[in-house]
Amino acid sequence: MWLDTQAQGRAVPVLMPNQCPHRGARLSLGTVKQDSDGNTLLRCGYHGWQFGASGQCVSVPSSPQLAPPANFAVACLSTRTAHGLVWANLGLKHGATAPTFDIPRLDHLPARRLIYGPFDVATSAPRAVENFLDTAHFAYVHEGWLGDAAHPEVPPYEVTLTDDGRPCIERYQAWQPRGSASSQNGEWVDYRYEVLSPYSALLEKQGQTAGPKDAYVIWACPTTDTTCRLWFAHYTDDTDSTDEALHDFQVTIFSQDQPILESQRPAQLPIGGGEAMAPSDKLSLAYRRYLRGSGVTCGVC
Ligand code: FES
Ligand SMILES: [Fe+2]
Repeated sequence: MWLDTQAQGRAVPVLMPNQCPHRGARLSLGTVKQDSDGNTLLRCGYHGWQFGASGQCVSVPSSPQLAPPANFAVACLSTRTAHGLVWANLGLKHGATAPTFDIPRLDHLPARRLIYGPFDVATSAPRAVENFLDTAHFAYVHEGWLGDAAHPEVPPYEVTLTDDGRPCIERYQAWQPRGSASSQNGEWVDYRYEVLSPYSALLEKQGQTAGPKDAYVIWACPTTDTTCRLWFAHYTDDTDSTDEALHDFQVTIFSQDQPILESQRPAQLPIGGGEAMAPSDKLSLAYRRYLRGSGVTCGVC
């Protein structure tokens, strides 16, 4: 991906396959440059073919008189920018003009936003999202941080559905020794969970006695059936902690999750049954039912 600085007078992300149509070299080894007219071009690192923002080759340096024909081109995908990330529909055919998916609205969250990642993880996107929705692991995986091994019980909670069928928990409470980057003492923390899409979810949390209001979104992009790339977006009204402290907190938490996530077999989420379910797994059950209804096939079995 590179930025076309000429498009509409502002930088617009251009997404190309990472493969040159000439001899298949990785285009990410190339260079983004401006031509003498100010157009932004990507120059392949192998033989120097140059491609414009449409993906069309505009120059073959070894044959300077050649007008590159239409098939000297790479298939760019159109992009949208939202929530600090660039979005594309990788399933779209070349020439489609816009991504055809809805991006969830998050207008109600605190204004300070940090993006952590990407994290490349050797498990499916649904396994990663289900872990994000799971509270019963706090006491073991995040002991001393999000949970306490002396109190592993999960209080009863209710799962509701949004109008369009996405599972939510409007209120869940957890005792957390250190629930945020700025917390000094353990306290009860109120949580709200919402599945945003098959591969994304939101949690909002706030200490009952002190501390900032925090919200985290997991954006999981399936890279294969059994691997994914994750970003975490963090929205907070914590104005005291530095970006670095907030980043380090989340990286620490996720470094505790990752070995467990990557150990799970099958790596795809078994939405058709086959895993034991405790009463505390109500949200996992609802998420699996939602995935079945949504018709997704990548990352599930
Ligand atoms: S492989 Fe890209 S220019 Fe030859
Ligand atoms: Fe976790």
